[in-house]
Amino acid sequence: MTAKEVRQSFLDFFKSKDHKIVTSSPVVPYGDPTLLFTNAGMNQFKDVFLDIGTRDYKRAADTQKCIRVSGKHNDLEEVGVDTYHHTFFEMLGNWSFGDYYKEEAIAWAWELLTDVWKLPKDRLYATVFKTDDEAYEIWKKYIPEDRIQRFGEKDNFWEMGETGPCGPCSEIHFDRTPDKSGGKLVNAGTPDVIEIWNLVFIQYNRLPNGELEPLRSKHVDTGMGFERIVAVIQNKKSNYDTDVFSPIINQIEQLAGKKYPEDLANPVGIAMRVMADH
Ligand code: SER
Repeated sequence: MTAKEVRQSFLDFFKSKDHKIVTSSPVVPYGDPTLLFTNAGMNQFKDVFLDIGTRDYKRAADTQKCIRVSGKHNDLEEVGVDTYHHTFFEMLGNWSFGDYYKEEAIAWAWELLTDVWKLPKDRLYATVFKTDDEAYEIWKKYIPEDRIQRFGEKDNFWEMGETGPCGPCSEIHFDRTPDKSGGKLVNAGTPDVIEIWNLVFIQYNRLPNGELEPLRSKHVDTGMGFERIVAVIQNKKSNYDTDVFSPIINQIEQLAGKKYPEDLANPVGIAMRVMADH
């Protein structure tokens, strides 16, 4: 599948589940002084989650252009040094505004990954927030318990910024180790096992004083790194080896008069990846 086909199949899948396909919002958010740049697909729906705005639909999906260079979500130090973080990237997402919740969010993520895209089930891991027994029980319908792991706030409680909508999350990780031995490497910061999709169960508003205020309704906010899922589907170890980036890398090679090095630690390669990302 080409990157373009992956993007379209994501949107088609959620359209078939009655989601309205919306456009990406601008990378500079409208009227939100808490954010410099759009850092997640849910930003444009913040008012709906906080119950101060409405839409004429209860389910949405899109591909959102995101920039993560400041504040709570900042990947400037990782970009180029590794092969799977970006400062500018696309996030594929689906949302429920007080409509479906954990059961459907998990079922549809599983269906898209394993039925539509045919990813090998024995390479997928799920994580849940340490106290989220509900998500844990739902995951048990799809994968054996030894592939479901519990983590704390750092990994499994998602917040857009210092304040705003937030909640426990359940992530899906893909194991790229040759012998499928990546269970211990979930959340270990290695390209061998990477997070591909984050399912957030939004149910609180983080207040400026740090308190969590329960929201009136419960919502779903998912985000999947487009460049990462393309790398997984195209069986590439690096996002930069997919058809999203290889034309840019080729152009940089020509302009620089240097070959893109195979050794990931080579500073020339790091610089080329940074330029391609930017
Ligand atoms: N907002 C969550 C994230 O950015 C899921 O979309 O990971």
